[in-house]
Amino acid sequence: MLAIKEKWTQDRFENRTILTVFLPLRSSCFLSNTLKGRFMPELIFRQPDGTSRPVTTETGGSVMQAAIRSNIRGIEAECGGACACATCHIYIAPEYLDCVPAPRQDEEEMLDGVCAERKEGSRLSCQITVTDALDGIIIDVPDRQY
Ligand code: FES
Repeated sequence: MLAIKEKWTQDRFENRTILTVFLPLRSSCFLSNTLKGRFMPELIFRQPDGTSRPVTTETGGSVMQAAIRSNIRGIEAECGGACACATCHIYIAPEYLDCVPAPRQDEEEMLDGVCAERKEGSRLSCQITVTDALDGIIIDVPDRQY
């Protein structure tokens, strides 16, 4: 019985240590996923009115898919990710531009036809794959897609 109590006390101490170390660093989603042994990046979608919403998502899919799954307002994605509609237009904040690969030629051509102003950080969210490197990225949603 004593051994069980000592083990329980030790586990509680270790868990408290983990919480103390991780809680100030990241959101509870990060903590929960880390403790499960699986890291999922968090994307932060910011609306034109300044409100923002974090979305925790699996790696491997596109930023557009993460936005659609989370009902992010302003991401339409009419072609479903075929790089044929430009209604998944987003702005990558300048400090995060190095986290995403440069657009391919077909994406560049579609970006020429976006409805909202094209800026330096303009991208089609369906063409950006979610990787660990995108954790914490700020993504601005344009004021219109049509
Ligand atoms: S969803 Fe149509 S271009 Fe991205």
